[in-house]
Amino acid sequence: RILILDFGSQYTQLIARRVREAGVYCEIHPYDLDDRALQSFAPRGIILSGGPSSTVGEAAPRVSPLVFKLGVPLLGICYGMQAMAAQLGGEVEVSTHREYGYAQVRVHGHSQLLQNIEDHTTAEGKALLDVWMSHGDRVMSLPEGFKRIASTDHAPLAAMADEARRFYGLQFHPEVTHTRQGVRILERFIYGVCGCEGLWKPGHIIAESIESIRGKVGTDTVLLGLSGGVDSSVAAALLHKAIGNQLICVFVDNGLLRLGEADQVMATFARHLGIKVIRIDAESRFLEALAGVVDPEAKRKIIGRVFIEVFEEAAAELPNVQWLAQGTIYPDVIESAGGKTGKAQVIKSHHNVGGLPEELNLKLLEPLRELFKDEVRHLGTELGLPFDLVYRHPFPGPGLGVRILGEVKKEYADLLRLADAIFIEELHAHGWYDKVSQAFAVFLPVKSVGVMGDGRCYDFVVALRAVESVDFMTARWAHLPYDFLDHVSRRIINEVSGISRVTYDISGKPPATIEWE
Ligand code: XMP
Repeated sequence: RILILDFGSQYTQLIARRVREAGVYCEIHPYDLDDRALQSFAPRGIILSGGPSSTVGEAAPRVSPLVFKLGVPLLGICYGMQAMAAQLGGEVEVSTHREYGYAQVRVHGHSQLLQNIEDHTTAEGKALLDVWMSHGDRVMSLPEGFKRIASTDHAPLAAMADEARRFYGLQFHPEVTHTRQGVRILERFIYGVCGCEGLWKPGHIIAESIESIRGKVGTDTVLLGLSGGVDSSVAAALLHKAIGNQLICVFVDNGLLRLGEADQVMATFARHLGIKVIRIDAESRFLEALAGVVDPEAKRKIIGRVFIEVFEEAAAELPNVQWLAQGTIYPDVIESAGGKTGKAQVIKSHHNVGGLPEELNLKLLEPLRELFKDEVRHLGTELGLPFDLVYRHPFPGPGLGVRILGEVKKEYADLLRLADAIFIEELHAHGWYDKVSQAFAVFLPVKSVGVMGDGRCYDFVVALRAVESVDFMTARWAHLPYDFLDHVSRRIINEVSGISRVTYDISGKPPATIEWE
């Protein structure tokens, strides 16, 4: 197994993920892990992550000197390389030229780490790598025993190696996808240098998580807000497997869910999986609170607030609950941390990120906190959740509340649910659902004139939206075939009385957002 010592880089989890993808078990620990823990972990190799600090100066974070004496291979990435250089007697300086983003690295000499790995070759036959750099400081002189194995114009020592001790340093980030050969480099370190075999499987996460949940919770009772989305569903299934009936879920039907969704959630969790789920029908409460409100952010806040109220009331009815579980996943952790620095502008306040009541006075349990979405999905299928649930499109916390433009009314929500269900059903039927990242209908509270049969009609409009996206930060509208759109439009207009016009949204993000509000 591999030990990752974390200096606080945004990418540390990504390193862990790459190691696990290579089938090798790893754990992330803080850089100042003490000697006893270091020894008892007995790693086959250690990776020192990047980090935001400067290596120069008294207060610069350092690993225990024992790290260099365990006799196991080391890989220092970015700050990790600088810390290694500084601790072993090399020199690091604050560079006047900061290097961020794409860079081309020249490979020098032979090293076990980079040998025969290249993106291009120069006229002289030297290997070049396309990499992702992000650093301010740089190594100026190598510690004893090291040689240079790569350089860029601004970082003459972009990678270093001490083959005898099997210590390597990379100034660039092999864990990010922009470093094209990154996976190969990491695998070279894990398999070639450390001699690990790729035997570990993600399914092992289940066993470990269960053990850790049981250890923490003991005989206590845990409360979970179940939304029916992927994250809270997987958290519920995992907790149920770990602690059975000590888990109680609260599912709030806010009246802004998709067609039949509340019943489906109850069928899956309460009936099929045998999980204790308390369903609270709070449609009228949400709709009353939303009456007359048109501003999207105001609507989001109201939906968030009423949710907390309803949830707290439900929790108050349950005596002896000690833990509040949440389906927080790793990207939520990064996002909310990023938010705290105040640099990112709030485009939309996503109320379900880190948003449950603190007043409940419960201990927080976040069993998915270290996992990426695809790992969560994988876990979900391993835990026996239905494929359709695990691979469903994201659905915003405020639900149809932000898909009905302006004031939310029950009449509008009912029409929208029917139109949306037809669109989704057809996407499934024609094999498009899994090809697009998110699709839904939006209700436009405007009336347009039409003819139906022999009469004139004057009814509402819905817009269909389907996008392709990797991270939902940017998106391209899905180029669905005209015939398909034609078919969906006809069905909606024929089957949903009250809607007489269907449009298709052809805006990309940016500048448009995915949701209309
Ligand atoms: P936008 O509309 O900002 O959406 O392009 C990006 C992704 O976030 C989802 N979204 C939300 N999710 N609460 C959520 O939990 C919200 O208030 C919210 N607003 C947007 C949206 O569905 C898309 O997947």
